[in-house]
Amino acid sequence: MKMTDGNAVVFGRSLKLEREAPAPSQADQIIRFYEEASMDYAHWSRGLNMHLGFFRWGMNPFDREAMLEQLNIEVAKRLELDRNADSLLVDLGCGMGAVARSIARKYPRSTIRGVTLAPSQVRIADSINEQCGLKNRIEILNEDYTNLPFGNDTVDAAWGVESVCYATGAEKEDLIREVLRVLKIGGRFVVADCFVTNPARNFTPLIKKCYSTVCDAWAVSEMATLELFVASLESHGFTNIVIEDASWRAAPSLAHAPLAVLTFVLRKWLAGQKLKEHTINNLKASLLALVLGARKSKFSYCIISA
Ligand SMILES: C[S@@+](CC[C@H](N)C(=O)[O-])C[C@H]1O[C@@H](n2cnc3c(N)ncnc32)[C@H](O)[C@@H]1O
Repeated sequence: MKMTDGNAVVFGRSLKLEREAPAPSQADQIIRFYEEASMDYAHWSRGLNMHLGFFRWGMNPFDREAMLEQLNIEVAKRLELDRNADSLLVDLGCGMGAVARSIARKYPRSTIRGVTLAPSQVRIADSINEQCGLKNRIEILNEDYTNLPFGNDTVDAAWGVESVCYATGAEKEDLIREVLRVLKIGGRFVVADCFVTNPARNFTPLIKKCYSTVCDAWAVSEMATLELFVASLESHGFTNIVIEDASWRAAPSLAHAPLAVLTFVLRKWLAGQKLKEHTINNLKASLLALVLGARKSKFSYCIISA
């Protein structure tokens, strides 16, 4: 038997071998998801925020955009930067640049580099940054946040909003190590994301199913486990670690999900547009996230600063 480029010649007969396509890597799955689903977020947020909001007393809980923008402000505050000093900041998993734009406005002397795996997000973010007059201060790069194109000790502060969940394992150690490498001594790292808490207590079958469906739909291999993530920060030398459980702050914006999903589907239906696979997954995950959000003993939305 002789092999020739996918064909096997068996006793003179040519047989086409069925080659199994290699399973897509985690990065490929993330890219595929965001290449297809990113613009769906325009229905969730005018400013293309791809995350939950932060509610403060006195805010209108029906104004979703204000709560989404408030989360960006909360992250900005925790960076504790001097508004009057030049700074180099990095947005780890920047999506379409919404958080970076808010932070650029809060810190007028900052220069921001956002990194994302999805090439279309780079193009969209660039064009909005241009329209907002921020193109000269925000550069969006198609890069992996576990292999940043920045030198050691060059960055004043970095943040990851609902993007850290994509790093490896429950500790997200590959990302933490890379952030530590690029941060200057004394530099700040702020994360806002959903964390698994109490991992020792088993998930019920229903929660297990919801959790795995949400992860699959959003191309997340596993969410960070709070205790392990914080232990990893400590073991890499991060200090002054502050963990804030912001679940109740995020809840009013999460409660917008069912109506947002319904109006999105209706709008597509009225326009005669078919829903794509990743869009359906995104909608499903947005609804199931409500179930996970209700399991306060197992999942928390946290803001962690270090
Ligand atoms: C839910 S979106 C959040 C976007 C943005 N932070 C926001 O809140 O609007 C997750 C983002 O993480 C990015 N991401 C995931 N893994 C990444 C990696 N290894 N390197 C760079 N970006 C990554 C995705 O490309 C996507 O832009």
